[in-house]
Amino acid sequence: MWGSISNPARDIATAALPDKVVAAAAVAPDATSPQPPVDLVPHVPSNYPHFTPFVENVDQYKAMYQRSIEDPDGFWADIASEFHWHKKWDEKHTSWNFDVRNGPIHVEWFKGGLTNIAYNCLDRHVAAGRGDQPCFLWEGNEPKDSAVMTYSQVLGEVCRMANYLRSIGVGKGDAVSIYMPMVCELPIAMLACARIGAVHSVVFGGFSAEALAGRIADCKAKVLITSSGVMRGSKKIDLKAIADKAVEMAELNDEHLVSTVVVQEVKHAVTREHTHFVQGRDVWWEDALRGQPTEAEVEWVEADHPLFLLYTSGSTGKPKGVVHCTGGYMVYTFTTTKYVFNMAPGDVYWCTADCGWITGHSYLTYGPLLVGASQVVFEGVPTYPAADRCWQVVDKYKVKQFYTAPTAIRSLMRAGELYVKEHNRDSLRILGSVGEPINPEAWRWYHDVVGDGRCPIVDTWWQTETGGHMITPLPNTWQQKPGSATLPFFGVVPVIVDDKANELQGEAEGMLCIKQAWPSTLRTVYGDHDRYETNYFKPFPGYYFSGDGARRDKDGYFWITGRVDDVINVSGHRIGTAEVESALVAHPKCAEAAVVGFEHAIKGQGIYAFVTLMEGESYTEDLRRELIASVRSHIGAFAAPDAIHWAPGLPKTRSGKIMRRVLRKIASKEEDQLGDISTLADPSVVQQLVDLRGK
Ligand code: WTA
Repeated sequence: MWGSISNPARDIATAALPDKVVAAAAVAPDATSPQPPVDLVPHVPSNYPHFTPFVENVDQYKAMYQRSIEDPDGFWADIASEFHWHKKWDEKHTSWNFDVRNGPIHVEWFKGGLTNIAYNCLDRHVAAGRGDQPCFLWEGNEPKDSAVMTYSQVLGEVCRMANYLRSIGVGKGDAVSIYMPMVCELPIAMLACARIGAVHSVVFGGFSAEALAGRIADCKAKVLITSSGVMRGSKKIDLKAIADKAVEMAELNDEHLVSTVVVQEVKHAVTREHTHFVQGRDVWWEDALRGQPTEAEVEWVEADHPLFLLYTSGSTGKPKGVVHCTGGYMVYTFTTTKYVFNMAPGDVYWCTADCGWITGHSYLTYGPLLVGASQVVFEGVPTYPAADRCWQVVDKYKVKQFYTAPTAIRSLMRAGELYVKEHNRDSLRILGSVGEPINPEAWRWYHDVVGDGRCPIVDTWWQTETGGHMITPLPNTWQQKPGSATLPFFGVVPVIVDDKANELQGEAEGMLCIKQAWPSTLRTVYGDHDRYETNYFKPFPGYYFSGDGARRDKDGYFWITGRVDDVINVSGHRIGTAEVESALVAHPKCAEAAVVGFEHAIKGQGIYAFVTLMEGESYTEDLRRELIASVRSHIGAFAAPDAIHWAPGLPKTRSGKIMRRVLRKIASKEEDQLGDISTLADPSVVQQLVDLRGK
């Protein structure tokens, strides 16, 4: 077990749906699941000689932390003062209610203040004389393709795009969908929206037409900004064709018209000549911006004006549009970027995440620009053209802070350390991890091989909903334990609760909740405040419920054990089992489907689908492929099941509820540890399923 990904809390998970967490709270950790021997993990002292941490030691952290939670108004106001505010916030600027028993959930930060995040990301630095500093260091899919954009150049492009959007009637509060690969125009489009107070909704370029259509329709986007195509490794993807289909579907389903599609040409993937173009609706990015001035008026917005929506998967229903607001998000992403990456203006930083996910929002588009870093924007994948790409890029730009996901670390680790050793990497100071629990073996490799033992690892736990890092080491400030996200960031009060919402003290394991609002708390679910309350605040009244399980050790360090709901984390991508199940059931030959996660050496978790066919249908390889294709077309290739297991019947309780705990054990070949199955309506299905495994 040691060295693989131990994740006991995944098995807590029969409390699949948050509303059920309340009712079915009787869910206890499965006694048979392995516990990570956290107390045996050797501590890694913090004595890295290569830099002075902003927070010198644990005592300084404790003093700052204490103030941040006792005097949030003062603590965060001091930091906010570093920014430009068109109008300052009120003296008492915070208020929140996290307890559904006391009325509607609401959160407010920097009340009374007016600001603009794009201004603070760009104009502020240009005004301070840093206009010629590189802002984006774009590195294409092919190593020969690269480009540099300075802060002044990015500001100019953002203004031109902002002017164009205004010219077609987009203004404050309007939603704009963005579906693009990792080219500089993607963060530029986001910043242009922010400049005029429009609300961006970035959809990851790996989503299918149907998934994009749902997201366009839900927020009623007026405009879609997309690209002609993208190269991912050696694969060419015709993004515009997918976008066309999505717009058509969104309009059919919702009678909602996307008035304009702006198409940015990615020449090395799909050229203009090969791009389908709808006259009267589509416009090339270049044509749209032609003649637009490189200056644009700033829309000063209230601190609580929505900055963006980002759709994310939960246990139930369709993905939720998580809403983040300007002021609190700005101050929090800045502060976490600064302290967690020990980042100063001018530092060269690289986050490998795509802007389609929250990490690309907070730690690519916004946080590092607020600090004033120069950052790599990477179009490609870590293993193309070879598994040394990351280290070649690190050396090329002299990257100081590198931030990636455990799944990438594991796949590079598998490729072998020779790829790493070919490059000297001596610019590296801090290595970050995000998206899923990092197993101690991968942590060790990252630390000892990639960082040559010179760089602390910041294992950052957070979520789309939290907007920024929540539990994370501060580099070189306190001892690390491989696999632990360690201690809460300023302003964050994490608690571990039992199934009855009792806070557990000291060493404990249970559900991870947050007790008070932090500046980048999600403010609502777009168009559905009820769902926001039901999902996040009703399961454990008085707390924000993260959906994760956690353990706190004797030193107060947190160990995230993984999701306790029906969300699977595949290569750091959140996928709702319900979404995959409905994509499978959409196939006419599929009667029922149940999806669970299973341990996967590279992806962290893989998707394992049990499928019951319609009467008279038979199991064939073709059908297996069709079912996988159905998931690809409803969601996207990244959600395709790794395994399809034919199931004549599913293990259900007498009331008809599928016992996923049993399915998880079968998927992981641990049927000798099924526990009590006496409540199953028909216990014989278990043996049937075991017999059909691999068939
Ligand atoms: C998981 C990504 C353990 C967790 C920023 C969370 C982690 C979900 C870590 C959010 C970490 C993220 N250690 N687990 N350092 N970081 N997770 O919304 O299960 O895409 O709930 O945000 O990823 O995924 P999301």
